[in-house]
Amino acid sequence: MARVPLIAGNWKMNNTVAESVALARELMPRVNGLERVEVAVCPPATALYAVGDALLGSNVALGAQDVFWEESGAYTGMLSPVMLADVGCKYAIIGHSERRGRFGKPNESLAADATRVFGDTDASVNLKAKAALKHGLVPIVCVGETLPEREAGRTDETVRGQVEACLAGLSAKQIAGLVVAYEPVWAIGTGRACEAPEANRVCGLIRQVIGEAFGEEASGAVRIQYGGSVSDKNAHDLMSQPEIDGGLVGGASLDASKFSQIAQVASVISKDMRYA
Ligand code: PGA
Repeated sequence: MARVPLIAGNWKMNNTVAESVALARELMPRVNGLERVEVAVCPPATALYAVGDALLGSNVALGAQDVFWEESGAYTGMLSPVMLADVGCKYAIIGHSERRGRFGKPNESLAADATRVFGDTDASVNLKAKAALKHGLVPIVCVGETLPEREAGRTDETVRGQVEACLAGLSAKQIAGLVVAYEPVWAIGTGRACEAPEANRVCGLIRQVIGEAFGEEASGAVRIQYGGSVSDKNAHDLMSQPEIDGGLVGGASLDASKFSQIAQVASVISKDMRYA
C-alpha cells in the first residue's frame, strides 16, 4: 500500500509562543528519522511563525487549524492561505467540528446562538479547501457525525453528505493530494474513541464515496485519517486498520511523549503493511 500515514497534532487553543516552541523542540528528536509516516503539528495561530522557525530542518511539518478562502481584504480576524503559506504551513485543518460549532462535550450552559461564532458549514469548508489548494496548502478536511446522528442511524448518510459537499468541484488530482479526517464528534475530547473496526468501516465508506465521485485513482491515493480521542493506548488498534491512514490527534498531541509514540506506532505498522 503506497499511502503514507499522516499523524497530525491539533494543539487547538493551547500554549503560549514559548510553550509551543518548547513542545516542538521536545517532539522533534523523538520523531526524527521515523520512516513511512509524516508528522505535523498545528499550533495556535499566534505561535505558527515561531514554531515553523523551530521546526526548520526537521521532519515535522507545520499546519494551521483553519484558513479563510479570500487572499486578503476586509475580513477581520481571518487568516488567508497566502499568509499561512508565508509562515511555512504545509497543512491546514478545515471544517473541524469545533469550527462548525459542534462539540464532543456539549456545553449546555451556552446560549443557543452563542456557537454561531464557529460558523463553518460544508459550503464554507468547500471554499476553504479550494483556496488552500490554490495556494499550495494541503487541506485536512474534517467530517464526522454527532451522537444524535449516530444514534438515529444516520452516520453514513451524514458523512457521505459532508464528503460530497466539502469536496465538490475539486479535480481528481486535487483529491488525490489531500487528507480527509473522519472525526466522529462524540469521540472528540471525550476519551471515548470510536471502535477501530467501526472507524475503519466509516473511513472505507469515505473512500468509496470519493471513488464514486472522483474515480479509483483518487480514492486509492487520498489519505483518510481517524480523529477523536486517539491516544498512545489505542493507536495500535486504530492505525492497523487498512482504511485508516494516520490520525488527527488533539489532547495527546500536547504531550511530546504520547504524540511521538503514536507516530512511532504508525511508522512500524506502515512499514509492516508495505512489506506484508
Ligand atoms: P482529541 O481531539 O484527540 O482531543 O479527541 C481530536 C481532534 O479534535 O482533532
